[in-house]
Amino acid sequence: MARLARLQVPAIALLLLAQSMPAPAADDGAAASGKALLEAHCARCHSIESSGESPLAKAPPLREVYLKYPIEQLEEGFAEGMGSRHRDMPQIPFSDDQVEAILVYLGSITGVDPHLRPRAPATGETPP
Ligand code: HEC
Repeated sequence: MARLARLQVPAIALLLLAQSMPAPAADDGAAASGKALLEAHCARCHSIESSGESPLAKAPPLREVYLKYPIEQLEEGFAEGMGSRHRDMPQIPFSDDQVEAILVYLGSITGVDPHLRPRAPATGETPP
């Protein structure tokens, strides 16, 4: 009995370790590719870092944009390329995976997990 107990402890520890490991690893990859996308398409105007001004003063740092809009609106906006808002901005439609990666990256620089941000606009209405 005592022998069995000794064997069980490491087995449980390994199981817990295995369960907790894949998620952060996947998120790190997503954050890195999200950052690369923003670097390639947005960083010449918007700050994409956790602090500092945007290169173009009129363009708000994307961390502020991230914290300002509900996730649903950000997803739609990124997926449609954001450009419809004004002529200055390029129209780059991102795929669902790319949008997710961008949100994970913005979550990592603001310290606010996208899954913990409000999804829908706070209108007071409850969807059916
Ligand atoms: C050529 C410069 C330029 C590039 C490149 C650019 N933007 Fe912008 N963006 C702006 C400017 C300037 C504004 C603010 C002007 C305005 O509100 O009319 C803005 C506003 C925004 C807003 C609205 C912010 C708000 O508070 O309503 C979002 C969201 C946004 N940009 C996302 C992006 C994303 C994502 C990319 C990369 C895919 C990008 N922008 C690339 C110039 C740019």
